[in-house]
Amino acid sequence: MGRKRVGILISGGGSNMHAIVKASRATDFPVEIICVASNKPEAGGLKIAAQEGIVTHVINHRDFPTREAFDAALNAYLQSQRLDLVVCAGFMRIMTPVLIAPWAGRMINIHPSLLPLYKGLHTHERAIAAGDKQHGCTVHYVTAALDDGPIIAQARVPILPGDTPDILAARVLVEEHKLYPAALAKVAKSLS
Ligand code: GRF
Repeated sequence: MGRKRVGILISGGGSNMHAIVKASRATDFPVEIICVASNKPEAGGLKIAAQEGIVTHVINHRDFPTREAFDAALNAYLQSQRLDLVVCAGFMRIMTPVLIAPWAGRMINIHPSLLPLYKGLHTHERAIAAGDKQHGCTVHYVTAALDDGPIIAQARVPILPGDTPDILAARVLVEEHKLYPAALAKVAKSLS
């Protein structure tokens, strides 16, 4: 069986994307990264992807009158790349069914919390404010409800005295960079 064709969606720095691209260099990694697409032209991850020799593509959400119109354009691009799987890696958009439905069971996301805890934004700040002892990250399938699809894998970190949201985010990010490539490999292998 050949390696699965994967596209990665980003909006920002792209450190998770980079971790996946680096993992995909291993000959036994079951995935080939075909393209990296961003809704933001200024996303730092675009430069990193280009340096890694990956095709990059920008579809600026500001160029579209509605969420659905943007989602349709992005879906058309992803379809044109004949992808097996779509990986959201810091893709900061609420997606509509126009984009989600065609990729049902074939689109995954990483969220910086131990889902079902702390869906949405500011997860690190909220975990500290709640007095939690642990925090972490979750890779899950994307479904119509935000940060809600079936969980594929999780990693935990401690919350330590004196943690700020930034310190905690950095601790979680180290785990994200290990968890996401591993979870992606598992999903790719599960596809027929
Ligand atoms: C990560 O914390 C990810 O979990 C969240 O957004 C952040 C993206 O970071 N969805 P990066 O762009 O991968 O560096």
